[in-house]
Amino acid sequence: MSRSLLWLDNLRLSFCTSEAQIEALRGINLSLGAGERLGIVGESGSGKSQLCFATLGLLPDNAQVSGRVCFDGIDLLTADAQTVQRLRGNQLAMIFQDPMSALNPYLTVGRQLTEVLRWHERLSRRAAQARAVDLLERVRLPEASIRMRAYPHELSGGMRQRVMIAMALLCEPRLLIADEPTTALDVTVQTDIMALLQTASERRALMLISHDLHLAAGVCQRIVVMYAGLFVEIGSVEDLFTRPAHPYTRGLLRAVPGHQGPAREPLYSIPGQPPQPDQIPQGCAFAPRCEQAFSRCHHELPPLHEIRAGHWRACHLDAAL
Ligand SMILES: Nc1ncnc2c1ncn2[C@@H]1O[C@H](COP(=O)(O)OP(=O)(O)O)[C@@H](O)[C@H]1O
Ligand code: SF4
Ligand SMILES: [Mg+2]
Repeated sequence: MSRSLLWLDNLRLSFCTSEAQIEALRGINLSLGAGERLGIVGESGSGKSQLCFATLGLLPDNAQVSGRVCFDGIDLLTADAQTVQRLRGNQLAMIFQDPMSALNPYLTVGRQLTEVLRWHERLSRRAAQARAVDLLERVRLPEASIRMRAYPHELSGGMRQRVMIAMALLCEPRLLIADEPTTALDVTVQTDIMALLQTASERRALMLISHDLHLAAGVCQRIVVMYAGLFVEIGSVEDLFTRPAHPYTRGLLRAVPGHQGPAREPLYSIPGQPPQPDQIPQGCAFAPRCEQAFSRCHHELPPLHEIRAGHWRACHLDAAL
C-alpha cells in the first residue's frame, strides 16, 4: 500500500439536497501504482465523475465526504488548501469530456498554455511559447504554431481535446485523470485520442473513466467496474474479458453492439435501469436487474473479495467460476 501513488480508503461521498440524501460513493477502496493505467467503467450515474472530483479534492458545497484520498502519502481530504492546490497544479491533472468547459473561450490556445507555463515554471515568454508549440506538436495538433493564435471555438472537437490533453500535460503530472475524454467525438477521432492518451500516459499513471468497457480495455491494464457508487469487479483486462465474474460485468460485455462472445449470443441489453442514487436498494444494488439474484442478494451487501490473484468481485454467487 505504501508504494501506491494514489490510495483511496473507504471513500464515501454524499450530497445533501432539499429533497434527498444522495449517496454517490459508498465506500471505495483503491490502490493505483505509479505508471499504472486503470480504467473505470459503469453506466451513467454510477459515480465515476464524482470519484474523479473527489480524487482531485474538487467537491461542491453540498458534498459530505469521509475516508481517505492519499496521493503520494498526502491525504487530500485533510491537507491544507495550498498543498492541495499545489498538487493539482503540477502532479494531478484532469481531462474533461467537454474541453470547452475547461478551456477559456476568451483566450487563444497559445495564451492559455503559455500563461500556465510562465506562472508554474517561471519560463520567459519566448521559452513558454516554444514549449507550448512543442506540446501541441506532441499531441499531434496540425499546424501547431498557427493554432497557437486560435480561440477554442475556432477548433474542431477533436482538436480541442488535443489542446486539453496538452494543457493537462503542461506540468508533467504524475497522475492523469481523463473523464470520458472521447464521448463527444466522432468514432474515428476517438481512436486517435485514445492512442494519444496511451502515449501521454507512458511515464505517468492514468485513471480513464469510460462507459465503454472495450474502449477502456484498449488503453488500460486494469479495469474497475462500478455500479451504484461501489466497485463490483476489479481485474486485469484479461480477467474481465475472459473470466468476467460479476453478473453486471457479464451484462456489460454482452450488451456491446457487434460483440460476438464465444457462444455468438445475440445482442443483449441488461434489463431495467440503475437505481436512483437516493433510492439504492438494500443488499446488492444490482439485484433488481440480476437474472441470478437469490434471496440473500436482496438484504445483504456482498463485500468485494479476491477470487483469484488480483481479481476481485462483489457478489454472493459461488466463487467457483
Ligand atoms: N452536486 C450534486 N448534488 C446532488 N447530486 C449530485 C451532485 N453531483 C452529482 N450528483 C449525483 O451523483 C451521482 C453520481 O454522479 P456522477 O459521478 O456524475 O455519475 P457518472 O459520472 O458515473 O455518470 C448521480 O446520481 C448524480 O446525479
Ligand atoms: S450478489 Fe446476487 S444480485 Fe448481486 S450480482 Fe451477485 S447474484 Fe446478482
Ligand atoms: Mg460522468
